[in-house]
Amino acid sequence: MSAILKMEHITKMFPGVKALNDVNFDVEKGEIHCLVGENGAGKSTLMNVLCGIYPYGTYSGSIYFQGEETQFKTIKDSEHTGIVIIFQELALVPTLSIRENIFLGNERVENGVINWYMTDRDASEVMKRVGLHENPQTLIKDIGVGKQQLVEIAKALSRDVQLLILDEPTAALNENESNNLLNLMLELKKDGVTCVLISHKLNEVARVADSITILRDGATIETIKRGNQPINEARIIRGMVGRDMVDRFPKRDAKIGEIGFEIKDWTVHDPLQPDRIKINHVNLNVRHGEIIGIAGLMGAGRTELAMSVFGKMYGVNISGQIIKDGRCLTIHTVRDAIGAGIAYATEDRKTYGLILIKDIIDNISLASLNKVSANMVINRNREIQAAEEYREKLNIKCSGVTQRTNDLSGGNQQKVVLSKWIFAEPDCLILDEPTRGIDVGAKYEIYTIMNNLAEMGKTVIMISSELPEILGVCDRIYVMDEGEIVGELTRDNASQEAIMKCIMDNHREEAI
Ligand SMILES: Nc1ncnc2c1ncn2[C@@H]1O[C@H](COP(=O)(O)OP(=O)(O)OP(=O)(O)O)[C@@H](O)[C@H]1O
Ligand SMILES: [Mg+2]
Repeated sequence: MSAILKMEHITKMFPGVKALNDVNFDVEKGEIHCLVGENGAGKSTLMNVLCGIYPYGTYSGSIYFQGEETQFKTIKDSEHTGIVIIFQELALVPTLSIRENIFLGNERVENGVINWYMTDRDASEVMKRVGLHENPQTLIKDIGVGKQQLVEIAKALSRDVQLLILDEPTAALNENESNNLLNLMLELKKDGVTCVLISHKLNEVARVADSITILRDGATIETIKRGNQPINEARIIRGMVGRDMVDRFPKRDAKIGEIGFEIKDWTVHDPLQPDRIKINHVNLNVRHGEIIGIAGLMGAGRTELAMSVFGKMYGVNISGQIIKDGRCLTIHTVRDAIGAGIAYATEDRKTYGLILIKDIIDNISLASLNKVSANMVINRNREIQAAEEYREKLNIKCSGVTQRTNDLSGGNQQKVVLSKWIFAEPDCLILDEPTRGIDVGAKYEIYTIMNNLAEMGKTVIMISSELPEILGVCDRIYVMDEGEIVGELTRDNASQEAIMKCIMDNHREEAI
């Protein structure tokens, strides 16, 4: 095999941070090469350097693609040579159709006008290749994230891609969708497409990787070749975090008390089609000291449930009760919810979770201004102190707490969202996909924090699509499907199979 890509001695500075320090990265033609490392290790930055997002001249070192030295000024330059990157946060236009997104900037034009016949024909062809069986005129906002991901790949294929870079493509996908995506990568490999995959899901890495490069603190630790042996996850983890990790989940010795938080008969209608029920008579409760999980497939209504409970951020015609320690709460707004001691850490950190132009300090104190102020005046020192405390506790990688959250790595942004809500000291904490995009070491830290909160007698609800995590962390699990609770499992009788069975049984009942 020959190298399709060679990155040599790459160093990239940001004000106050050396994000990459003399990194070497070689990719063989036709392989799937995984890039792994802790949050903030420099993975996305390395790929941005490669693609011209950080233009030639803003980094040092050299890059050779198919034997030629590259000096990309913009991302367009790299696209012209056949490099396509699919970002950590998707970059599709939600209000345009699939076909328009696929050919955005690369339109099928004849005599100066778009030829929709050609557009549809070519769109159908690439859509078929990625296994997307949708009408090309469907709007992006009307399909799920899994399919949106496929549109991104279809778009890449429409440009005759040589090197496809996927930055955490499966972070927002469920098991099934992730599997399809990995299979598609293996298919593309057969067609000679080279892939670089960034992922925190080591089981996926072990499944598809021909080579794995580990980055730590902006430097290359090692590149592991698959060879004849299976890939050893423990070795990857050791390379990433610099030590052995014995357990993935902290020990839990729960002392569970009375019911502290309860949702009764909760029904919510779709804001776009108010006659459609989105959440159907949901009942659930959490005891003091207990961590409950809500499992379900993407689209089961878990986020809608959480958002509707959290100050009616989602939904119309909402009915039902929210009860805290036996008392029925009246909650109309997010402010009411926070006031009542409820916190909701969102899965969508870019839209709801963070104010990106603000620094870490402001973001962490946002939901607890009463804690950092006296007589209506904010005490900046108190705010800084809190930010420093959480920076240390959650190991947030940054140049300082005055760094803008927009410039943090994806996983570190997530840690700021969590800090904000933990600092608010809620009685009931709802965490929606809290470890999405978070590295193994930091996951452990987050589980530990959840445990500590529970130990303090708080009620904790975790929504997660990763079944091993739900099973490893929760005392009790509700299974949700199509807006309803379709099963409840205790720690002792819960398993991946038991959870899936609840969902399958529900589908079967509907079919009858
Ligand atoms: N525009 C920027 N300005 C300042 N610092 C930045 C900027 N972009 C990234 N950094 C810093 O560079 C380092 C590497 O970030 P990068 O996004 O490459 O990490 P990553 O390995 O992709 O992490 P994650 O797994 O969390 O996505 C981090 O410390 C981050 O704070
Ligand atoms: Mg990243």
